[in-house]
Amino acid sequence: MQAKLLGVIVFFTIFSSLVAGSQGHISVVLLGATGDLAKKYLLQGFFQLYVDQIDNGHSFSFHGAALTPPEQGQTLMFEALKRLSCSPDVFPDRCALLKDQFLKLTRYWQLKTAEDYVSLNQDIESSLREKGLQEAGRLFYLSVPPFAYVDIAHHINSSCRPKPGAWLRVVLEKPFGHDHESAQQLAKELHTFFLEEEMYRVDHYLGKQVVAEILPFRQQNRQFLDPIWNRHNVERVEIVLKETLDAKGRTSFYEQYGVVRDVIQNHLTEILTCIAMEIPKNGSNSEEVLKNKLALVKLLQPLEKANAVIGQYQGYNDQVREELQKDEHHFSTTPTFAGVVVFIDSLRWEGVPFVLTSGKALDERVSYVRVLFKHQAFCVSRSSKCKPQQIIFHIGHGELQFPAVVVSQNLFKPILPEESWQEVTDFSSQHLYGQPLSEYYVYRPLKEQDAYTTLITNIYQGKKDAFITTQNLMASWHFWTPLLESLAQEVPRFYPGGTENRNLLDFVISGREVSFALEQHVEFMTSDQHSQADSYKTVRSIFRGSQLVTAWSETLVSMLAQDIEVAAEEAVKHSGVFHLALSGGSSPTALLQRLATHHYTFPWKHTHLWMVDERCVPLTNHESNFDSLYDKLLQHVRVPYLHIHPMPVHMNQRLCAEEDHGAEFYAKEISLLVKNTSFHMILLGVGTDGHTASIFPHTPEAMERDQLVVLTESPVKPHWRMSFSLHLINKAQKVAVLVLGKRKNDIVTLISRVEQEPQNWPITGVNPNTGQLVWYIDYEALFR
Ligand code: BG6
Repeated sequence: MQAKLLGVIVFFTIFSSLVAGSQGHISVVLLGATGDLAKKYLLQGFFQLYVDQIDNGHSFSFHGAALTPPEQGQTLMFEALKRLSCSPDVFPDRCALLKDQFLKLTRYWQLKTAEDYVSLNQDIESSLREKGLQEAGRLFYLSVPPFAYVDIAHHINSSCRPKPGAWLRVVLEKPFGHDHESAQQLAKELHTFFLEEEMYRVDHYLGKQVVAEILPFRQQNRQFLDPIWNRHNVERVEIVLKETLDAKGRTSFYEQYGVVRDVIQNHLTEILTCIAMEIPKNGSNSEEVLKNKLALVKLLQPLEKANAVIGQYQGYNDQVREELQKDEHHFSTTPTFAGVVVFIDSLRWEGVPFVLTSGKALDERVSYVRVLFKHQAFCVSRSSKCKPQQIIFHIGHGELQFPAVVVSQNLFKPILPEESWQEVTDFSSQHLYGQPLSEYYVYRPLKEQDAYTTLITNIYQGKKDAFITTQNLMASWHFWTPLLESLAQEVPRFYPGGTENRNLLDFVISGREVSFALEQHVEFMTSDQHSQADSYKTVRSIFRGSQLVTAWSETLVSMLAQDIEVAAEEAVKHSGVFHLALSGGSSPTALLQRLATHHYTFPWKHTHLWMVDERCVPLTNHESNFDSLYDKLLQHVRVPYLHIHPMPVHMNQRLCAEEDHGAEFYAKEISLLVKNTSFHMILLGVGTDGHTASIFPHTPEAMERDQLVVLTESPVKPHWRMSFSLHLINKAQKVAVLVLGKRKNDIVTLISRVEQEPQNWPITGVNPNTGQLVWYIDYEALFR
């Protein structure tokens, strides 16, 4: 004990005013005092509590605790304490004095072992004795990872309970389990140590000023709201939490939770209950509020997969692999975006969609609730009745830089408590939620306050309706768990992040279901839609409206080789011959090698090999596509000499001279040998600029319909090329586009979103007239 005391800083308990202590002493113990949440919000919140309550009769002592050894932990905590601030209405001298007093009331503890807790308890008790103070209560704030809860709870219960007559409040931070079962297990364990009324589960959104105002607002404006707060008048309710930040640095947490567990099951659901629950007769009675909240959650209609859309930002997988040291084959389907439509089984809300949306790496940071009313008037004149009618609880960020309650002027002028809210009237020409700001009544808090500061005051006051009870928590998990389970196998829609997302994540509600508004360019099939023969390593999907096969590159190349062999066998069976045209470039190399070394039954004897494009260099030059075809494939297989058709780029001792008509010559040869100039199969690649074959952006000649083979110019050396035209490519019976490697991710992302714009991205002009297009894109190119 003596040694322990030497390891900690001096502990003072002072009377901060004459009355302090007369109502008893409160000991606050913050576990996780060196953590981020403590540094950012909790220490400030407790300081504010101290400042606000200084004259209200309680005395305080603050104990910051962590696992960190005393010297180090103390330094860390006191560094954070130096940054405490006072609200603008406090004079600097007074602020300095308050900070000084607070620091003197605060000490750091290393709380690791059972003995550490016993020492803490002894210290609190002996200090109370010395000062002759009556104990009012003890507040333990657990800002620690949930796996530590049970252990800490055990120590608090066995060593740190106050004597009868004083209260114990234990504050817990989410996550409270990750589904119904785990939440129940955790709750059961906690209940072996604490009574329900002793536990305060935090949802920091309930501390946000605007969220905390929803219920009082509904109460105070009953005269206006009673007739319209129902299914006859409300079109829909949007509850939105959009973030620009991604999950970088937090993937170990995020991988287990995802967006639904992280913010929708808790923050957005809590907001939903504030909007939709029945107002209790006595709004200041916590029990009644909690009872009505619970009743509402129980009325939520069960969710199915079709009630949600999910997405994942494209950099997420890379971050997971890096931070969790996963190998390149690790593929996470954790959603970082979700839109869910919820319906309520009550007479008041039947059929009204409550749309809950949240995501990381979105285009803006904003959170709000928007209650949009139905247009019930048909206005022949320009009546204000036909303008949008909405009430917005603007929680934070976004265009409006302050939290606000916003009501369309054509609804009613709301009543808000004057002592804490002020009307804003000096508007810019800004628009908000589709209406000029000047068409709203806008109210902002007189004094902005952080959510944690509000919650800490609520804990101090024992105001339990701002916290999550065990029953409410279970009801919420009971509601969300089936959806989470049904989404577990779903591959989310990938989005690039930030403003690049454009309208990729917009979704539409039809009936009770939601779906993305933009046509799926990449759509994955769930595992039960895979054919039996598919390897589990391969995903078959839709890309730009055509079939997509995606896998790690090696698997993908072997699948393509297999598909080519199948196509060859079919063609030979039907017409005795197989016409295959191959592109140059690096991507097909592995494919050619695979065909040479693994496909011994390939009907090479009946196969004609053509070149999709060629560089204007001698065919024996190492830059020649034909040279690489020879090197990788031809020298290893037995294709009849006369079935090999290099492009005539080198005629009359010169390269691609127009007068030699090499392109026409090749076109003629194709017309003579290939029935209807329709190849059985053409293999293409995609360049990072969107070129395919040797058709580069802005090469109109390659887009013309009357030429089969053309001379083109490439922006990179060797500049001159000979190439199949788009017209010829689109006549093929099957076109396979092979795209491999991270380098191609940007172009894949881009072409997944544009329509047909061959002038800008020639690959988008590949659209076989009657044939089939199949994309073979590896995971790296698709997801980076
Ligand atoms: C937290 C989530 O609960 O809420 C975070 O774990 C999220 O992922 C945060 O970023 C959002 O809260 P706020 O207050 O920044 O809107």
